[in-house]
Amino acid sequence: MNCNALNAELSGMKPRDIIKSIFKNNDNVALSFSGAEDVVLIDMACKLGFKPNIFTLDTGRLHPETYQYIQTVMDHYKIKIDILMPNSAATQQLTLEKGLFSFYQDGHKECCSIRKVAPLRSHLTNFSAWITGQRRDQSKETRDSLDVAEIDNAFKGSAEQLLKFNPLAHWSSEEVWTYIRSLEIPFNPLHNEGYESIGCLPCTRPTLPHQDPREGRWWWEEANSKECGLHSSLDNISSQQP
Ligand code: ADX
Ligand code: SF4
Repeated sequence: MNCNALNAELSGMKPRDIIKSIFKNNDNVALSFSGAEDVVLIDMACKLGFKPNIFTLDTGRLHPETYQYIQTVMDHYKIKIDILMPNSAATQQLTLEKGLFSFYQDGHKECCSIRKVAPLRSHLTNFSAWITGQRRDQSKETRDSLDVAEIDNAFKGSAEQLLKFNPLAHWSSEEVWTYIRSLEIPFNPLHNEGYESIGCLPCTRPTLPHQDPREGRWWWEEANSKECGLHSSLDNISSQQP
């Protein structure tokens, strides 16, 4: 199976209609939450009357503002967010061997794989599809050809193929922020301090207006390696496949 037909149908739709279609046609969907884009998706899904299974990956290294923000979103929408933790033995082993900041020396992949990818891998086995807030204009290097619907070959779901939906793929940052501000939706206060793309505290810094938003993530590494394994474009075979 490929997603060509699905993309032909969904790509021309507004995000709200994409979300409606996802929840109508898939009964076992997870929605991932970490920031600005995701709260837009939560807002749309809740206002459409759906009760999404929302999860967030708590790496243990998030900003205090982000923890507070997660609680704010739960309270605002009166929803639960499943807070996924990394495996304690694996985390302990990493920090015992390499300390707390090994990613500055040998790259972020090892730490991300323990703190983010492994918990995600385990969680997704319960679902046949998942939704992300990724957008094309977040990175020319890694997200430029992102599709609304993909088959996620990097992870296994509960069905034969795991679907991955990016309803905001074609939205600009401006559209996201117009939605947030006009509807007075809660956002992470770090955005007021120059942070655009927010991940873990030691691996995120503010960006300047002319910079690619992902330049503030893992800034000591090359632009084309700024993916942590949640959305590896090499692993996630998209609808381009025949
Ligand atoms: S990341 O892979 O570099 O961390 P980014 O921060 O751009 O990703 O976020 C893109 C999308 O990945 C988010 O909209 C969200 O769907 C998902 N995501 C990223 N980080 C998390 C997290 N900690 N928990 C859950 N989902 C996340
Ligand atoms: Fe570890 Fe940094 Fe990845 Fe967070 S972003 S999991 S702290 S390497």
